[in-house]
Amino acid sequence: MKDILGLLPLEAEKIDRILSLGLTMKARLRRGEKTLPTLVGKSAVTLFYENSTRTRCSFELAGKYLGAQVVNISASSSSVQKGESLVDTGKTLDAMKNDFIIIRHPMSGAPGLLARTVKAHVVNAGDGMNEHPSQALLDMLTMREHLGTIEGLRVAILGDIRHSRVAKSNLYGLRKLGAEVRMFAPATLMPAGLATMGAKICSSREEAVEGADVVMGLRIQLERQKAGNFPSLSEYAKYYGVNEDVMKYAKPTALIMHPGPVNRGVELTCGLIDGEASRIEDQVLSGLAVRMAMLTILNEEEEA
Ligand code: CP
Repeated sequence: MKDILGLLPLEAEKIDRILSLGLTMKARLRRGEKTLPTLVGKSAVTLFYENSTRTRCSFELAGKYLGAQVVNISASSSSVQKGESLVDTGKTLDAMKNDFIIIRHPMSGAPGLLARTVKAHVVNAGDGMNEHPSQALLDMLTMREHLGTIEGLRVAILGDIRHSRVAKSNLYGLRKLGAEVRMFAPATLMPAGLATMGAKICSSREEAVEGADVVMGLRIQLERQKAGNFPSLSEYAKYYGVNEDVMKYAKPTALIMHPGPVNRGVELTCGLIDGEASRIEDQVLSGLAVRMAMLTILNEEEEA
């Protein structure tokens, strides 16, 4: 395993291994034990062609807590602005003997192209509408920690599924570990083909949430769509958002999750975001832990 490009190509055993180590890392972080010498002498570059708070910052901290030297490059301040290609950017980083490239790119498949070109380990931090593997891994880690297992869970995913790389990575990962995945979105925001990948496509919020262990809202990605998929954000919230009435259909113990950033009052009500069942902030800690686990396992496999 040189790279982590998505959960579709990752075996269940590897996903399980990352989650197990991620849980250990999370427990250490909770105890205030942040540093480990795992990546001393190694370097990592975060190469982001799209905005990010959670993913970029937690990969940077993950690398630093493991002892690596970490450099951040944003496309807006790099030689990409002068016309340098992704492949040439990757070769430039390889020439500096860099060990890891963590890339976010608006084009699906860009991390795969880079991985085929460079010696460094490539980690996909989100590519277009394709995959966001570290987000799905942190979501699964949060579920496993709070619910004890992934197998047999009923997970409802509601929101802008069409533009969501998070939805796809969660579908692949959750199905591999034996969860049921239900999805609901306005017809204009539901892509074709997810049923063939194991999702149960629902025709109402209530059907999706019925008996759910986890209810995950997804952000409406206004930056990836032209107007016209729904009348307005307030109408989206009223007819498609998750609110307290919809949550009555879920298990009383159901967790509320969201990858963030949240459009407050649109995908989820503020009461649910800030309520007792919400694990949205805890997902952020899971993100740091799982990214430490991902970098550790890639390094271990290189040294094995
Ligand atoms: N969930 C997520 O990818 O958040 P950022 O865009 O802030 O990284």
